[in-house]
Amino acid sequence: MAEDLLIAKGSKEEQYQNLLPQIGGLLQGENNQIANLSNIAAALKEQFNFFWVGFYLVDGAEELVLGPFQGPVACTRIKKGRGVCGGAWAQEKTLIVPDVEQFPGHIACSSLSRSEIVLPIYKKGEIIGVLDVDSSELDSFDEIDEKYLTQILQLLDK
Ligand code: SME
Repeated sequence: MAEDLLIAKGSKEEQYQNLLPQIGGLLQGENNQIANLSNIAAALKEQFNFFWVGFYLVDGAEELVLGPFQGPVACTRIKKGRGVCGGAWAQEKTLIVPDVEQFPGHIACSSLSRSEIVLPIYKKGEIIGVLDVDSSELDSFDEIDEKYLTQILQLLDK
């Protein structure tokens, strides 16, 4: 298949609707997790130019370790329950943070990150990691991001 991403203009929802099937195509027939996470991070960066987008993966019972990402260099390890990423894992739910300075325990990998969304990734009922998307602007994420990013992550549960 062609590996070029077709970038859509329009509302955020239209952009996600255009992107979702293309990510489905990129993942089709490929089971390697590093390859699939890498292409998801790259596709989200290409479409939305997020400040930072990538994965932290469960490594043992108590820690996340940095996975494939796009953006500036980042912290490599995050304890369960710490920061937004460790919080989303421990609480087993998506966390939307409109202003990271107001989030107790936020881990500032970059001082330029102002808002973020973190979603757990489920594989066969288990959380295997989280998707972290950071913006350099306040209040960038809402239920539209949650809806479509959740659908993108469901493509990994196969
Ligand atoms: N801000 C995140 C840490 C990861 S980086 O921003 C890439 C957190 O508080 O979990």
